[in-house]
Amino acid sequence: MTRRVLVCGGAGYIGSHMAKWLAAHGVAPVVLDNLSTGHREAVRFGPLVEADLLDPASLDAAFAQGPFEAVMHFCARSLVGESVQQPLAYYDNNVTGTLNLLQAMQRHGVDRIVFSSTAAVFGEPVAATIDEDHPKAPINPYGASKLMVERVLADAAHAYGLRSVALRYFNAAGASADGDIGEAHTPETHLIPNVLRAALGDGSRLKVFGDDWPTADGTCVRDYIHVDDLAQAHWLALDFMAAHAGAHAFNLGNGRGFSVREVIAAAEAASGHEVPFDIAPRRAGDPAVLVAASDRARQVLGWAPRHADLQAIIASAWRWHCQPRF
Ligand code: UFG
Repeated sequence: MTRRVLVCGGAGYIGSHMAKWLAAHGVAPVVLDNLSTGHREAVRFGPLVEADLLDPASLDAAFAQGPFEAVMHFCARSLVGESVQQPLAYYDNNVTGTLNLLQAMQRHGVDRIVFSSTAAVFGEPVAATIDEDHPKAPINPYGASKLMVERVLADAAHAYGLRSVALRYFNAAGASADGDIGEAHTPETHLIPNVLRAALGDGSRLKVFGDDWPTADGTCVRDYIHVDDLAQAHWLALDFMAAHAGAHAFNLGNGRGFSVREVIAAAEAASGHEVPFDIAPRRAGDPAVLVAASDRARQVLGWAPRHADLQAIIASAWRWHCQPRF
């Protein structure tokens, strides 16, 4: 029988790349999405069930398309600044929504989940690179909501035998090599899409949020990881859960930080266009530096990112931004 995975949030940026990966590897993705931020046009690799994690009854229609070997859970509100302004919406969507999903999994006998967690669970870093044992002290409701779910998964492993892998992404970037799906948020808050929009010459100028950070060139440093490398880690997590009970967590990044100025330079090289920018005040809630130590994912999952070069990551995003399909 065909293997099936329920991809919650599969109409979104990372979820759609995951659905594509699954289909390419012989596993049928069924997408559950409420299309609040996702795109119907991004669901190209399997059926879409429009359902909402905050409407538990709507979830049963998605599970009826099973049986599923696992759920991959990409649904979330994920903007740090917005989470500070609207904490109740964030806890409702990210925590209550996940509780509803876990209960639906129980009703339908699905006992494995890969959960999209985030570097934001760590808060302000106390080490140069962040491994899984780094203290978890989120500084915004978004990170707190994700950490709460990690705790729920640990308790559910203990009580019900739920198997889970939480993958803590650092900065997801890039797009599918053939240009059929890519990153499309409204409004767009992320650095690389905003850099590329400015490079396209649409009249927008990039705002660089602060050049007085305690970093080599004064701009913030992040660890950019290609969206297909994130998909690879989820894929490996399926095999890992088949062999291992319990709740597990892994950090996913390339282990190298790039400043905003370095991203601008790489985007200029990848696109051949100048990126007009202005220095703006710091953005609230931004840590100066976030770089992952991902040794555990490499050693335990066998994860091997294939797109470590920043310019190549940006080049894939550039191809998408020149010809977005949605
Ligand atoms: N930045 C700019 N100008 C922009 C956009 C971003 O200078 O127009 C800067 C930000 O200040 C930050 C860096 O570029 O220093 C990266 O910002 P992004 O918004 O692209 O990404 P974040 O690091 O803020 O956020 C990412 C994920 C979140 C996650 C967070 C963990 O998108 O979901 O990492 O801290 F919560």
